[in-house]
Amino acid sequence: MTVPAREVPAQNRLRGLTRRELTQSDPMLDWWHPVGYASDLATTPRQTVLLGRALVLWRDENGTARCLRDLCVHRGTALSLGEVQNGQITCPYHGWRFTGDGRCTSIPQLPADRPIPAGAAVPAFRCEERYGLIWVCLGEPRADIPDFPEWDDSGFRHAACPPYTWRTNAARMVENFTDFGHLGWLHDGLLGMRSDLVVPEHTVQRTGHELRYNLTMNVPSAGGVNDLQDAAGTMTNTYVLSLPHAIHLRSHYPDTGHSRVLFFAAQPVDEQTSIGYCYQSRDFDLEGDDQVYISFQETLAEQDRVVVESQRPEQLPMDIADELHLKFDRVAVEYRKALADHSPAARESQHRGWIS
Ligand code: FES
Ligand SMILES: [Fe+2]
Repeated sequence: MTVPAREVPAQNRLRGLTRRELTQSDPMLDWWHPVGYASDLATTPRQTVLLGRALVLWRDENGTARCLRDLCVHRGTALSLGEVQNGQITCPYHGWRFTGDGRCTSIPQLPADRPIPAGAAVPAFRCEERYGLIWVCLGEPRADIPDFPEWDDSGFRHAACPPYTWRTNAARMVENFTDFGHLGWLHDGLLGMRSDLVVPEHTVQRTGHELRYNLTMNVPSAGGVNDLQDAAGTMTNTYVLSLPHAIHLRSHYPDTGHSRVLFFAAQPVDEQTSIGYCYQSRDFDLEGDDQVYISFQETLAEQDRVVVESQRPEQLPMDIADELHLKFDRVAVEYRKALADHSPAARESQHRGWIS
């Protein structure tokens, strides 16, 4: 009789990664990734998972965000189960203590006159706080954290949407944002209309790790989040997609001269799980209720989630011939090409042809 394999909870699998698996090369290691809102991080340790690696985050005595591998060098215990004292994290198992840069400062079982072995250290990672988000880079950053120029502009009001977790690859999540064809169909009455589905002409410019593109479209007032004078009107969208997983979208309303901004960045938890962080910002309705904008974004995200989680394969196919791309899918095609150019393995398998 065969006994079916028991499903191992994801977190246990992650904690059980070998040293080699934890250090193996992955081109995604060399980018900044968001790992949570800054307002959710305190001196209490918090575990997060990035690119399959369990990490522990906390704030030290100066309020600076710190990030270590969530795996004690002694016996592989999750440090996130421990506590923070004087800015340092203490392992819950035997009480070894580590600084924010991974140095061990105390091994209670050693006599006081014995030095702490040099190998008693935990890998520490670059950790920055920007735009109310905590960002981590596990390798050498290829580029800075993506731009969000309105963040420090006092003329804008920012509404942070609750993080949303999808069972999909982060690139699939981002590509959904680049997809103009679905706006009026899936989001009929919110981001477009089924009566007006032809995607306007647009071009995509690629500069280094960024894709830039613009599109003017007719949109409904959508419950008041669009600053239009009538029930429908024109909106000019300016996009900057920063590799690998961030989008800045500024929507300008020529009728009123106002703008609404969406800043989105995804955390690649593992190859099939992602967390999206999103700001809805505006330079109008400054005394208004943020929840209107948050609810709008949540409605859209939920419509998208169902569709995106159904997409197969889970990984974005880097071979362009694997799916049928039409001319209005050009941003998605350029996104895949740009991702492939930053991933040697994907570049080798990429096919350049697509249907216009
Ligand atoms: S397992 Fe962390 S101190 Fe022993
Ligand atoms: Fe969508």
